[in-house]
Amino acid sequence: MTQTVGFAVVGAGLVGPRHAEFAARAEGGSLRAVCDLCEDRGRPLAERFGAEWVPDYREVVRREDVDVVDVCLPTALHLEVAAAAAEAGKHVVVEKPIELNVDRARELVDVCRRHGVWLMPIFNRRFVFGTRRTHDAVHNGDLGKLLLADMRFKSWRPASYYSESGWRGTWDKEGGAALINQGIHGVDLITWIAGPIKRVQGYARRLRHHHIEADDTTIAVYEYQSGAVGVIECTTSVQPRQPDVLELHGERGSIALQNYRIVRWDVDGVEPGEPSSEERALPGADKGVDAGHFFQIQDMVYAVRDRRPPVITGEDALHSLAVVQAIYESERTGGPVDVQVR
Ligand SMILES: NC(=O)c1ccc[n+]([C@@H]2O[C@H](COP(=O)([O-])OP(=O)(O)OC[C@H]3O[C@@H](n4cnc5c(N)ncnc54)[C@H](O)[C@@H]3O)[C@@H](O)[C@H]2O)c1
Repeated sequence: MTQTVGFAVVGAGLVGPRHAEFAARAEGGSLRAVCDLCEDRGRPLAERFGAEWVPDYREVVRREDVDVVDVCLPTALHLEVAAAAAEAGKHVVVEKPIELNVDRARELVDVCRRHGVWLMPIFNRRFVFGTRRTHDAVHNGDLGKLLLADMRFKSWRPASYYSESGWRGTWDKEGGAALINQGIHGVDLITWIAGPIKRVQGYARRLRHHHIEADDTTIAVYEYQSGAVGVIECTTSVQPRQPDVLELHGERGSIALQNYRIVRWDVDGVEPGEPSSEERALPGADKGVDAGHFFQIQDMVYAVRDRRPPVITGEDALHSLAVVQAIYESERTGGPVDVQVR
């Protein structure tokens, strides 16, 4: 390992620049390379942080000054690049969803484990004060037995969002569209907070973005392993974008979040509290979601330095992907589908 933890960000499209900036800003971290086939994207991003643009990821994974390969590529390329990185002894950060389906995600998790490197999937919305506080309240039993746990993600993406990155909205390169790309954040959060989902009944439809293959509007009802029930709604077809909503109801109270901030806290005898001053000072904390990216990248630096697992591991990403797959399968079969992490 080099003195600071060296990052290479692979993929300089929509989300890659956020990773590059945060790798450069993390305490003890350093951005060494940005890899993108497209020079117009890769070179300026690399140069902004004193790093090198490298068009070929196979060159990146061989570099001695790189400790962590941070994969921000189209979803179907995650396994290939993460496997090459792991085989070269590099730790891996990978954007959500970690792959197209559970089988490929499992392969990715296994290859990292076999080579003894850390794998950290990005689920940035877990690291916002409101979601973390809600998670802790549910897990402390403050809400009592859970009855209902729902999420709504009603957003807007223009046609150009899909046409400018041709892999988006396709089955073979993205594994779906609105649900697997945007909705998976909500599935991850709601299952992290309320526990694993047992069975789903889903409707995955293309109602507005007719030029894509997969869903732009998906809903599902589901039953948790705990016996609680819930609803997920996810769309990229609603203008203007509505606030993302999470709602949890237990025998002893209710919590509601809008855009990951607590807007209702009806929990007997327990206060929600406030984010710490350190948390408020994180880059992007005013927007919440970026702060999660920073927190995770900083955590990977400490995980490599201190030789301890990162705050989210590959295994943590499998259940939400299995739920997404089950919802798509339910649309195809027209019936309820059991969620299985094979
Ligand atoms: N956590 C979040 O909030 C968040 C936000 C956006 C995207 N994402 C995820 O990040 C991943 C990337 O999404 P995006 O929207 O940034 O994609 P994008 O299409 O905007 O960017 C992908 C980049 O990868 C480059 N690329 C493609 N193939 C390559 C190869 N073989 N070698 C090197 N470069 C290559 C492209 O030139 C492009 O610049 C997806 O898995 C997506 O789901 C997560």
